[in-house]
Amino acid sequence: MNKSWWKEAIVYQIYPRSFNDANADGIGDLRGIIDKIDYIASLGINTIWLNPVYESPFDDMGYDIADYKNIASCFGSMADFDELLEKAHQRDIRILMDLVVNHCSDEHHWFTEAKQSKQSPYHDYFVWRDAGESREHPNNWISFFSGPAWEYNPQTDEYYLHYFSKKQPDLNWENPNVREEVQGIMEFWLAKGVDGFRMDVIGLISKPPGLPDIPEDTHDIGAFYNNGPRLHEFLQDIHAKVLSRYDCMTVGECPGATAEDALLLCGEDRRELQTLFHFEAMDVDKRSAEHYEVGKVSVPKLREVMQKWHDTLYGKSWNSAYLMNHDQPRSVSRFGDDDRYRIESAKMLATFQLTQWGTPYIYQGEEIGMTNCHFEPQEFRDIQMINYYREQRELGKSKEELLPGLLYKGRDNSRTPMQWDSSKNAGFSSSDNTWIKINPNYPAINVDAAERDPESILHYYRSAIALRKAHPILTYGRQELIELGDDALYGYLRKDEQEELWVILSFDAGEKPIRLKGLNQCQPLLGNYPAPSLKEEQLTLRPYEALVLKRH
Ligand code: GLC
Ligand code: CA
Repeated sequence: MNKSWWKEAIVYQIYPRSFNDANADGIGDLRGIIDKIDYIASLGINTIWLNPVYESPFDDMGYDIADYKNIASCFGSMADFDELLEKAHQRDIRILMDLVVNHCSDEHHWFTEAKQSKQSPYHDYFVWRDAGESREHPNNWISFFSGPAWEYNPQTDEYYLHYFSKKQPDLNWENPNVREEVQGIMEFWLAKGVDGFRMDVIGLISKPPGLPDIPEDTHDIGAFYNNGPRLHEFLQDIHAKVLSRYDCMTVGECPGATAEDALLLCGEDRRELQTLFHFEAMDVDKRSAEHYEVGKVSVPKLREVMQKWHDTLYGKSWNSAYLMNHDQPRSVSRFGDDDRYRIESAKMLATFQLTQWGTPYIYQGEEIGMTNCHFEPQEFRDIQMINYYREQRELGKSKEELLPGLLYKGRDNSRTPMQWDSSKNAGFSSSDNTWIKINPNYPAINVDAAERDPESILHYYRSAIALRKAHPILTYGRQELIELGDDALYGYLRKDEQEELWVILSFDAGEKPIRLKGLNQCQPLLGNYPAPSLKEEQLTLRPYEALVLKRH
């Protein structure tokens, strides 16, 4: 298998708004990240993915870009960005930018001009349909953020398409000028020296031809919008014109993509993307088609999904391993136990992330076991939660009915500020007003406390990262399931010609006896409890125990 730096990437995701506020306006900023660069480096990670920092009205927290070549003033200046890039590079940390080009902001000059008149050179940058006399929507498409995906524009008597908020008009990729603009944006950042892109909802850029209605029985609108007929052509064009000239990394966000889709999008011979984020592991707690519901993680499903992706892609393509990001709830609250076994289960999840096949992504705060947060509806900041709550209240649902699902799944959970210490606002900001609520558990859960505790989740992350770096088979080796005969357990091995490592994970708060042939020939390399004795072929796993063993 070809080796490359991006396959060896261990990524730390930074959500700048909530990382560190250096100028006390209540919003995290680039200077704040620079101030913490040595902390970031101390984790042992080698790549940062930076959520959008471009100029934006922040209707969707920066995923609505008004100027792709400027930094939002709340985050600082281009000089700050250049300094961050330089300081990261000095520490051998690469930076991936978030490229959001399925849509832009309605405040981007392309759109402010496009909506004035059909004659504007920018009009065809967007997807329009005549309103006609009936004023009916062009089809039944709905937005990911509730309500129809069409908004009326009186100046031209047309509807424009928006898969997300009405302040995020979709770009018309059928127009070659749009494709050229995107390539120009990528060139701009690559010329500055950035190391690649996380490509926002890139699977959605080619629209279903003829804009047909969504069939009634569709559960997943992402899967319906995904994979338009010209997607591969558009990506190959970007590769040929831009990416092929740089040694950079790309990871596409692809809601609805299957492992077979990934072979086409990220096949090593295909010249499109290198890797993607699929959503199948984020669906293992789904009970119904409802997005906001209190879920329950199925470990058998998780095992099956991870193994299927490995088996389909290994040797031909590359995968990503993540348990959360800025769109998902906190991993320890969802996949672990954020109460009694918070420390044990967060370490178990760290073990999972850093021993799986696929580039690992750690989201800020995950390394100290930050948890979901309680919000009252008036404290919501996320447009998706706000719109959904408003819509459902209008339909007659009560707050009591709606809150559990929103608090379980809502995006604001991961967006509460990084907890640095036990001082005011968790050390995130000295402002009296932070842009979003601080999780009240910060006096106990923070970086400062974790640094001082040798048994902390933070130190465990450092060990797990170091282990991944020390054993290249954790990056390149193939992966096989180990049958442990229990629905709450997940075992797998990684191996190549020289070495074999076993990973045993318990997702359960009880004790779990296991029997495993060859266990007595193993030596523990990492675990979240004092190392067990491995003299026999049986063992009783402790609550949320994680073990990485070397087989002799
Ligand atoms: C992606 C982003 C999400 C954003 C959406 C629209 O899913 O991760 O935060 O709201 O795209 O840009
Ligand atoms: Ca600030």
